[in-house]
Amino acid sequence: MTEVRLAAVDPKSSGYDTLVVGVTTTKRDSKLDIAASTGLGHSERKRILAGLTQVGAKAKPGSVTKLPGVSGIDIPQLICVVIGATEEEATPEQIRQAAGAGTIAAEDSAKVAVVMPGKAPADVAATAQGALLGAYRYEQCRGSGTKKPAKAAKTITVLTDSNRDRHVREAVRQAEIVAQEVWFARDLVNAPPSALHPIELAEAAVAQVAGLAVETLVLDEADLEEGKYGGILAVGQGSINPPRLVRLEYRPERSAVHIALVGKGITFDSGGLSLKPPTAMETMKCDMGGAAAVLAATAAIARLGLPATVTTYAACAENMPSGTAQRPGDVLTTLDGTTVEVLNTDAEGRLVLADALVSAGRDEPDVIIDVATLTGAQMVALGNRVSAVMSNSDDLRDDVVRAADMVGEQFWPMPLPPELRESLDSPIADLANIGDRMGGMLTAGLFLQEFVDPETPWAHLDIAGPSFNDSKPHDYTPKGGTGVAVRTLVQLVKDLADAASK
Ligand code: BES
Ligand code: MN
Ligand code: ZN
Repeated sequence: MTEVRLAAVDPKSSGYDTLVVGVTTTKRDSKLDIAASTGLGHSERKRILAGLTQVGAKAKPGSVTKLPGVSGIDIPQLICVVIGATEEEATPEQIRQAAGAGTIAAEDSAKVAVVMPGKAPADVAATAQGALLGAYRYEQCRGSGTKKPAKAAKTITVLTDSNRDRHVREAVRQAEIVAQEVWFARDLVNAPPSALHPIELAEAAVAQVAGLAVETLVLDEADLEEGKYGGILAVGQGSINPPRLVRLEYRPERSAVHIALVGKGITFDSGGLSLKPPTAMETMKCDMGGAAAVLAATAAIARLGLPATVTTYAACAENMPSGTAQRPGDVLTTLDGTTVEVLNTDAEGRLVLADALVSAGRDEPDVIIDVATLTGAQMVALGNRVSAVMSNSDDLRDDVVRAADMVGEQFWPMPLPPELRESLDSPIADLANIGDRMGGMLTAGLFLQEFVDPETPWAHLDIAGPSFNDSKPHDYTPKGGTGVAVRTLVQLVKDLADAASK
């Protein structure tokens, strides 16, 4: 794993392969500028700007220009990233994005240094976090062929004049923990589905919290059978890889609030007998992105020592077609005794989540948050970068949106229109697993709501599009698993704990 360091700005210190430089814009005439608060000296800043002018660097926000070294700076490659704001106006998120775009462009540089404008804790922490998020590479499938995928940097050194500031160091430490857990979530999502069945997902979850104040419990197929987890079992019954329910519990001495996190952990979604077309299956290893997010967030929360009790459930199964698979028309019974007519085996996420939500509710948490790559309709509505949040509490829904804004993730409020509920009626069972196709994201949310106590504030995060980037890298987001929702969940738990202890 890439190590993050803080050091004083000293462009003559050699040993770095690449220097990432954040480029701001002048206030008066919107020209490219390098701020004094980067810590770089006047003459070095002038030489970098001259280099940028020489190659005709674009002023477009996010544009990346590589320069082969500049005299006075003893680093062979400079990567200049346009922030798209003046030094005063640059937000932590803009700094985070520029730092990440820089480390993504650094390809397989081993030792990367970064300078960005801003000396405040929030600025330096954003620099470190963005740089680390952009430095992510998935390395587990590198072979011995000639064209090996890039390796992650060995070290990222944030060069800053405030490298000795206690508040800066603490903010960077926290930002690093969160970014490391985003890496963990990405690793889980990027793992080929043949390498990460429900068993391996559960093992990875347990291993990730080893040594932390987190208790773990994994229910195997026999436990699930005995406990009557009919939703998870029905989805898992078509696969030779049996399902699992992972439970993590973080209960610190000082705890202001109890939050339950629930994640959809379908390690591969073929659709089951309601088989998906081949192209729709290409990215379906991402269907455990919700589980990855709640597991990673829990590890981060425990490492940060946040004063909140967190109980986390990851409902893990593989949705496959076979002679033992559930059939369209089958009726299952979920953990709370609800019968569900399964009309479409591809609407499997809500079935595993039903059991997990009921389980989570039995701990009597103050708040329940579920995270799932639940519907294609989410992507139709909001695209690949904006996630949806639905809730039985307007306050909690707003809390999620605010937490997301704070950390630079995009969540948008969506309704749970009661009039759509009747489309989930079944003529023979308590519920059908599909309803109106129009508003499919909302009917999925309404289905989940059936398994939550109406008195408990609950929010449902549909991350179907944002969990996996199948187009070009952007900002600090590489191709593949994004780790979306981890940062929002950590911030939300922080905020809820803060509010409860006031
Ligand atoms: N895992 C999919 C949703 C999905 C689609 C996630 C694309 C990420 C990218 C989910 O299990 C699914 O198949 N949903 C169906 C539901 C339908 C059958 C009611 C869908 O959205 O088509
Ligand atoms: Mn599906
Ligand atoms: Zn699915």
